[in-house]
Amino acid sequence: MPVLKATFKNIKKCALIIKKGGVVAFPTETVYGLGADAFNENAVLKIFNIKKRPRFDPLIIHIANKPDLFKLASHVPNKILRLTQKLWPGPLTIILPKKKIVPDIVTASMGTVAVRMPDNKIALELIKLSKKFIAAPSANKFSKLSPTSPSHILKQLGKDIPIIDGKKTVYGIESTIIKYEKGNYYLLRPGAIEKEKIEKIIGKKLKKPNKKIIEAPGQIKKHYSPDKKLIIVNGEKDIKKPEESAYISFYKKPSKNYLFSARLSKDGNLIEAASNLFEILHLAEESKAKQIYIQKVPEKGIGLAIMDRIRKASGNE
Ligand code: TXA
Ligand code: MG
Repeated sequence: MPVLKATFKNIKKCALIIKKGGVVAFPTETVYGLGADAFNENAVLKIFNIKKRPRFDPLIIHIANKPDLFKLASHVPNKILRLTQKLWPGPLTIILPKKKIVPDIVTASMGTVAVRMPDNKIALELIKLSKKFIAAPSANKFSKLSPTSPSHILKQLGKDIPIIDGKKTVYGIESTIIKYEKGNYYLLRPGAIEKEKIEKIIGKKLKKPNKKIIEAPGQIKKHYSPDKKLIIVNGEKDIKKPEESAYISFYKKPSKNYLFSARLSKDGNLIEAASNLFEILHLAEESKAKQIYIQKVPEKGIGLAIMDRIRKASGNE
C-alpha cells in the first residue's frame, strides 16, 4: 500500500482498517506510530510481529478525548489530572495503574497502562473515526532509529503497511514518559516536554526510577540505533578518519572533509536540534560512511532527551 495523502477520505479508510483489526502507520507530533485497536489482541499482536518487538515491551495507548483516561486507568490522582488539563493534547505519556479491561498484551502484564493524547490533527481524527483506542509504538523495527517521515517507515517496514503522510513530525523526538506510583512521580523517559514544565505543574520534583520501578524497556541499553557504529564526541578533534566517517555537529560548521556531515541546528537551538536528530541519523545511516560521530549537546531542557537518545543509539549509558 502506498503512502497516503492525509485527506479525510484516506484517514477514514485507515480508521476502518483499524476497526477491522489491521495496522496503520500514522503521524503524531513526536514520531510516527504503528497503530492498532488496543482492545483487539490479535491486532496488537501484529504490531509486535511487524516490529520484531519483544512481548515484554508494553505499548502506549493513544486517546482523542481526555476523559477516556478514566476508562483505562483505575486511579487518576489530582496532580495527574492537572497535567492532562495543561499538557494534553501533547507529548506527555502518563503511566497509571490499569483497569482490568485493558488487555495484558498491551501492557505486557505490568498492572499499569501508558496513555497519551497526541497533539496532531491526523492522529486525533484517526482515533475518533475508528472509535477505538489506538495502541501504538514508534513505527520502526525494534531498537532501530525512530521515524519522523514516511520514508523512514518505508525503509524499515516496507510497503505493506498503509502510512498516512503527515510530513516531517514537529518535535522529532518521543513523548516524555512519567509514572505515578504510590504517591510518587517518576520520570521514565525524558522527551519532547521538558521535565521542569511537569514539575512546575505538579509542584514536585520527578524522581529517578529505581530498578524496581523502571521495567520500561525503553531503558534497554541499545535503542534508537542506526545500523552503523555511533560514537559520541566532544568535537572534531576527536575524529580520526573524516574521509570514511559521518559527522553530526550540534551547531558549528564541520571543518574537515567528511563523507557525510550535518548540523543539528545552525543556531544552536535545542528544540530544532531535537526535531532534526532522527532525520539526520537516518541520512547518516544511508550514507557510505563506516561510522557516525555525533557531538554532545548541552543537557538542559529538551537537550536531556536528545542526549538520552544519542547515548542509547550508541549503546552507551
Ligand atoms: O511519542 C511517543 O511516545 C511515540 C508516539 C508514536 O506516540 N510512541 C513511542 O512508543 O515512543 P514506544 O513504544 O516506541 O515507546 C514507549 C515506551 C517503551 O519504552 C515502553 O516500554 C514504555 O513506553 N511503556 C509503555 N507502557 C509502559 C508501562 N505500563 N510501564 C512502563 N513503561 C511503559
Ligand atoms: Mg520506540
